[in-house]
Amino acid sequence: MSGMPRILIFAGSTRRESVNRRLARVAAAQATAAGAQATLLELADYPLPLYNGDLEADSGLPANALKLKEIFIAHEAFVVVSPEYNSSIPPLLKNTIDWVSRPLPEQTGYVPFSGKPAALISASPGFLGGMRGLRHLREVLSELRMIVLPQQVSLPAADKAFDSEGQLTDPATSRRLDDLLGELLAMSGRLAL
Ligand SMILES: Cc1cc2nc3c(=O)[nH]c(=O)nc-3n(C[C@H](O)[C@H](O)[C@H](O)COP(=O)(O)O)c2cc1C
Repeated sequence: MSGMPRILIFAGSTRRESVNRRLARVAAAQATAAGAQATLLELADYPLPLYNGDLEADSGLPANALKLKEIFIAHEAFVVVSPEYNSSIPPLLKNTIDWVSRPLPEQTGYVPFSGKPAALISASPGFLGGMRGLRHLREVLSELRMIVLPQQVSLPAADKAFDSEGQLTDPATSRRLDDLLGELLAMSGRLAL
């Protein structure tokens, strides 16, 4: 690995006005400022069918699942910014992880994830900021052998947290993001030793 870890940042929402996509954009800018090579991935660019074992058996992995696998493999760390749906992982995000985790003949399903650190972030208009959903996301990514940082950031009242330029209005939230991204970069550096 070069001096600058490649960090993949994506939101678990494709909604046009998504607060999580907005926060992912802010996180990408802050990660770049902190010295990372940040890639902001939009899941809307890689639409996937709902996972179905018959579909996989008949046609293999969809082209977009293969592309996402390559993108995941090419990055040393992830930042996942996710909404909470009924206290859990939104189906878009779980479906994406499920497709990417399917093995290939020459490669186990863990390869895109294993041994890489992940930082979890959530945003919600609600007062808990989507933090309950991150428990489930943490468990799923840990089972895929990611090293999920104990620290995480949840943004409550997220519908009121950004200005018209998409910037966070509360400097304390930016600082919490910076702290989390700093932990991720430090962990990436330790793992690269
Ligand atoms: C099916 C569904 C379930 C939801 N459940 C929760 C929830 O458990 N907690 C919460 O804070 N918000 C919940 N919400 C509201 C989302 O936080 C809100 O729609 C948010 O804006 C979605 O994220 P996005 O703006 O990034 O698309 C739910 C929304 C939907 C559609």
